[in-house]
Amino acid sequence: MSARIYVPIDSGALSLGAEQVARAIRREADARGIAVDIVRNGSRGLFWLEPLVEVVTPQGRVAYGPVQPEDVPGLFDAGFHHGAAHPLCHGLTAQIPFLARQERLTFARVGLTDPLSLDDYLAHGGFEGLKRAIALAPADVVQAVTDSGLRGRGGAAFPTGIKWKTVLDTPAAQKYIACNADEGDSGTFSDRMLMEGDPYCLIEGMTIAGLAVGATQGYIYVRSEYPHAFRTLQAAIGRARAAGWLGASVAGCGRAFELEVRMGAGAYICGEETAMLESLEGKRGVVRAKPPLPAIAGLFGQPTVINNVMSLAAVPLILARGAAFYRDYGLGRSRGTLPFQLAGNLRHTGLVEKAFGVTLRELLEDFGGGSASGRPLRTAQVGGPLGAYVPATQFDVPLDYEQYAAIGAMVGHGGIVAFDDTVDMAKMARHAMAFCVAESCGKCTPCRIGSVRGVEVIDRIIAGEERGRNLALLDSLCDTMLAGSLCAMGGMTPYPVQSALKHFPQDFGIDTAAAA
Ligand SMILES: Cc1cc2nc3c(=O)[nH]c(=O)nc-3n(C[C@H](O)[C@H](O)[C@H](O)COP(=O)(O)O)c2cc1C
Ligand code: SF4
Repeated sequence: MSARIYVPIDSGALSLGAEQVARAIRREADARGIAVDIVRNGSRGLFWLEPLVEVVTPQGRVAYGPVQPEDVPGLFDAGFHHGAAHPLCHGLTAQIPFLARQERLTFARVGLTDPLSLDDYLAHGGFEGLKRAIALAPADVVQAVTDSGLRGRGGAAFPTGIKWKTVLDTPAAQKYIACNADEGDSGTFSDRMLMEGDPYCLIEGMTIAGLAVGATQGYIYVRSEYPHAFRTLQAAIGRARAAGWLGASVAGCGRAFELEVRMGAGAYICGEETAMLESLEGKRGVVRAKPPLPAIAGLFGQPTVINNVMSLAAVPLILARGAAFYRDYGLGRSRGTLPFQLAGNLRHTGLVEKAFGVTLRELLEDFGGGSASGRPLRTAQVGGPLGAYVPATQFDVPLDYEQYAAIGAMVGHGGIVAFDDTVDMAKMARHAMAFCVAESCGKCTPCRIGSVRGVEVIDRIIAGEERGRNLALLDSLCDTMLAGSLCAMGGMTPYPVQSALKHFPQDFGIDTAAAA
């Protein structure tokens, strides 16, 4: 019997040499006359172990990593194709603490299955949610999503069921589902990992959304930096269509749903939902004024559900296992799980799916293993480039939308970038303004001009020029951006700036002893 060996095809693993490793395993096995069946899977999300190679044994899958092509002969010498011991062996994958302590709902299949195999998808519970949705009335599908407590995972945390109900209740000859896969936030990769590792899950979620609100066409807007995700989705859509899961009669139910993938051109603002619609329509990515809401008049002026990849990928499980199953995870008004993404100065970066309520300390220390530099962690930016810097004194606040809002922070898409005590927070504040200068769509003045002035004022503060006056000016500028910007690009850039100032005034040359 041939040995079954999994080598990831996820772009993170590929960037670390997974392709060469797969080839080396094939070459070495052939040279030794050993029968191996190499399966290309998604990533398990343990980035410090990538390329993570797994071997199927009667006890379960055994993990080896990080594997380089030159390690392969030694691995065969040791008998890794039978799961034998080796310095790179980590034992059973499922028992690696980083994985074992997670609550993987949305990511249940990622890394386990062959992403493009429909048989594998079906064998792991795939399309159960869609079958259930087909058996329900559209309003009941929307109700299930509402009852699950699912809130948008793209950043704004708006209740998904309410958005769907608006589209369902808006009569139109044509409605759309638009999946936001722009994933521009710093340190984020969960959308990419799911699209590359379990594309049918997103396809299933979008199809359920389409049947629920009466939309027959969906678009996935993928950022240009994700060529692997783009290709994987295209291949998966083709196979799903050929098998009858997409098309004129989804799974023979008599209702249609079609899907297309569109590639962006690399602008952060095209992740903002209305700029994304403009881009999808072939125009320059500029933010639209609201109202009208996209749910009423969105893509090509038609009612449109816009959801993040993670929101849509949570839906199949909600339908398959029931709303109560999903809402049993989490706390307060933050129900279910969030795939957190650990990045920055950490020993163990990667993907950690946990129920809301986990703390930053648990994520950074228990999962992340503390800083990679060995120095104390000073802060983490949570929620992308528009998110606040959370100081170490607040690492024990549970990650929950409301509790984070109460400390002036946001959970957002769950991206976490860690910094040790060598970080200069005045520079980080300047960077936030400079990022806004580069990425502003230019439509409104507080953002377009305010961010340029923001860089200048912070430069003067750093240089020690009339510090008191310039700090007051920065404060007033942040107020104007917060209150007067058309979208959260300008409206939330003050979050990283003001949190840096509030928690790390000494980095701006402020004499905290005198101020006290
Ligand atoms: C500047 C900016 C960038 C954004 N980038 C993204 C993004 O990359 N992906 C995303 O899903 N949402 C992004 N959003 C949020 C979207 O506007 C929108 O809230 C989201 O796509 C709705 O889906 P959800 O309800 O499932 O979260 C961004 C918002 C702003 C203001
Ligand atoms: S806040 Fe910035 S990105 Fe948003 S509409 Fe105004 S100029 Fe454009």
